[in-house]
Amino acid sequence: MRFMSNSNSTRSLKTLKGFGLVTILALAMACGGSDASSDSAKTTSPVPGATPAAPAANLITADEIQLGEIDPGRVKKGEEIYDVKCQACHSKGTNRVVGPGWKGLLDHRKPEWIMNMIVHTDAMLETDPEAQAMLEECLVRMPNQNLSVDDARDVLEFIRTL
Ligand code: HEC
Repeated sequence: MRFMSNSNSTRSLKTLKGFGLVTILALAMACGGSDASSDSAKTTSPVPGATPAAPAANLITADEIQLGEIDPGRVKKGEEIYDVKCQACHSKGTNRVVGPGWKGLLDHRKPEWIMNMIVHTDAMLETDPEAQAMLEECLVRMPNQNLSVDDARDVLEFIRTL
């Protein structure tokens, strides 16, 4: 005699869990530089209407940057800064090293956004959604390079040539 055993196959769906976001956060915190230099860059920028939602740092606004004809003097200085302080992590092409490559950067980033990423790196990584998305992708937090606004402007001019 045969008994049909009641096949009782319960299938358990496995749910995908997060991709270790905790690790990313831990990394981000571990890499933060603790150099509190007294860089009082531009405390008196006329912010139209002083938006209350503005982040703590005095972010650079569009009207503080004029892009005229490419200034070769600035390009040269910007390239020198790049060679010393940025090259280790950024290529002049489109390929990523540690951070994204710079070629064509101005096609998808506003000049003031780039300037803020350079001068106010921490504020951007803490408040700007696009900077945060990049951090999630790169898994390394860009350290503040302590550039002045003027240095950053030189680098921006150099980026314009790429
Ligand atoms: C230790 C590596 C490192 C160094 C050095 C570094 N960066 Fe970065 N940078 C990054 C990473 C990583 C990102 C992406 C954001 C993140 O993960 O924090 C980034 C993002 C940027 C972006 C935004 C790029 C984009 O595609 O939108 C700019 C602009 C930038 N860096 C400028 C600079 C400048 C200028 C210097 C030199 C003065 C510099 N960085 C030095 C790692 C670095």
